[in-house]
Amino acid sequence: MNRIEETMTAWPVNGLPTTLTERTRRVYDRLAAVYPVSTLLFHSRAHQCALEAAGLRNGMRVLEVATGSGEMFRRLVRANTGGATIGVDLSPNMASRTQRAAQRKYPAARAHCQAVDARHMPFRSESFDAIFCCYLLELLSTDDIAQTLSEFRRILKDRGTLALVLIGQNTALFNKVYRVAGKVAPAFWGRQVEQRVPELAASVPFQILEDRIVRQTFYPSRVLVMRK
Ligand SMILES: C[S@@+](CC[C@H](N)C(=O)[O-])C[C@H]1O[C@@H](n2cnc3c(N)ncnc32)[C@H](O)[C@@H]1O
Repeated sequence: MNRIEETMTAWPVNGLPTTLTERTRRVYDRLAAVYPVSTLLFHSRAHQCALEAAGLRNGMRVLEVATGSGEMFRRLVRANTGGATIGVDLSPNMASRTQRAAQRKYPAARAHCQAVDARHMPFRSESFDAIFCCYLLELLSTDDIAQTLSEFRRILKDRGTLALVLIGQNTALFNKVYRVAGKVAPAFWGRQVEQRVPELAASVPFQILEDRIVRQTFYPSRVLVMRK
């Protein structure tokens, strides 16, 4: 664990959550109602790119990890009306918003979202054809990224697809601003990990099939599509 990660895992103030994960859950729980604005402004183009690059086919068993307020989840449900689409998020408020909105919009679809910590997936091995995970890894320690990627591999079927969206590190000014934001509110912003993830993923192992850069206004994203 590096120094930033150590400070992210401890919160020594009375009465407040004691771990980074608890603080992350609390902050995203509180922001669930307004979070769709951020997704619309910064994430929607990368979501679309991930959906296209992953080659999702209708009828699959698909999992989205860290759904946030459910914008990508609804894209997945719409593209997979003949299959089953499962979502998870650490924040119960995010998970229930995602569930309610998907059910309202696609009442006939097999879609379900629940509150789950991605580091410990409550799913049988080899149960999904594809996993999508957008802007989560920034919020996890390096050890937890490795553990979560191993969980992804465990629950993916043979030759299943993993689509990751990460915050890009290819813009110097953006990186500077992000570093400050991450120091001020680590449980919300985390820190950029995009350049480390390919190596971590290769060691799981995953094989990278697609690697795309997307920019939405000033916000850079990297879309990686991998195969188990
Ligand atoms: C930056 S938001 C991204 C939301 C959405 N994926 C998007 O693309 O807009 C990160 C989300 O990850 C969730 N999250 C954080 N840690 C998590 C964990 N350990 N397991 C599952 N979800 C987690 C948060 O609750 C939050 O909804």
